[in-house]
Amino acid sequence: MNASLMIHGGAGAIRSPERFFESLRSVVRSGDDLLASGASAIEAVAHCVTLLEDDTLYNAGRGAALNADGVACCDASIMDGRTLGAGAVAGVRGVRNPVALARIVMEETRHVLLVGEGAERFGRARGVRFENESYFVTEERREQLARAKERHATTLDHMQAEHGKLGTVGAVARDRDGNLAAATSTGGLINQMSGRVGDSPIIGAGCFADNAGCAVSCTGVGEDFLRTALARTASFFVESQEMDAARAAEAAVAYLVRRVQGSGGLIVVDRNGVCAAAHSTPGMLMASACDGKITVSAGRQREKAAGPSTGGRCDGY
Ligand code: GLY
Repeated sequence: MNASLMIHGGAGAIRSPERFFESLRSVVRSGDDLLASGASAIEAVAHCVTLLEDDTLYNAGRGAALNADGVACCDASIMDGRTLGAGAVAGVRGVRNPVALARIVMEETRHVLLVGEGAERFGRARGVRFENESYFVTEERREQLARAKERHATTLDHMQAEHGKLGTVGAVARDRDGNLAAATSTGGLINQMSGRVGDSPIIGAGCFADNAGCAVSCTGVGEDFLRTALARTASFFVESQEMDAARAAEAAVAYLVRRVQGSGGLIVVDRNGVCAAAHSTPGMLMASACDGKITVSAGRQREKAAGPSTGGRCDGY
């Protein structure tokens, strides 16, 4: 059985998308090499999201968006489609790789979600790597926050004004044994209220994986994905309505738009290894490795968001 892998680096109106392509290609190639060497889907998604968190280009880990207090407060989740095992952390500070801590929550506790100081204490006890606040804060993020505060903008307005880039990273994979996994990581929204948590660490909203359905990672306005439980909804479409990844991704985004005029996108890999993406935003950064072919895309870059737009199958764009 061939392995399949897809990653994303956020949705929105992506300015100069080419500046992300080398990074996306390198991350997906590295994850694909890992899967080819026999690694599990869980190992592959954790590996890819770790690399994306380490890259200041993305809104996760190093370079995460700053909240209203000027702090990088991160969320992450991971799910194993074989067992429905899941782990997540929300509102953590100083954790170099939130997805690694989410994985430890999944593998070493009876719980699914740990938040804030308790999650950080658990991470320290498990030897997770921590960094000073300055490691996470980039000049670009500082300037974005200052501009957002000047405008006294609402959270959604910040995103529109910041070229509509909604950040967040994620990965979905099917390994050679046919097992599925998903992971998602984010710094949330620029100038978000201190204490606000979006969809990314919520299993079923920003992340979901079930071998009976598909693996899903979302990006966009977290509240929209929370209200529609979008990742679980996409998996339900595969499991119960016999859609493939491409149809399920499109149907999920159509539902997101119809019910809450939602803004964002998702990547999906199904049990047959089909990778697909769809988004309601003008663009979405993504890359896939299927059947030995690596594809990098900014989605269908449109002037304005206008309902669902499929990113296509892994080899279709
Ligand atoms: N999708 C990321 C967030 O809303 O926090």
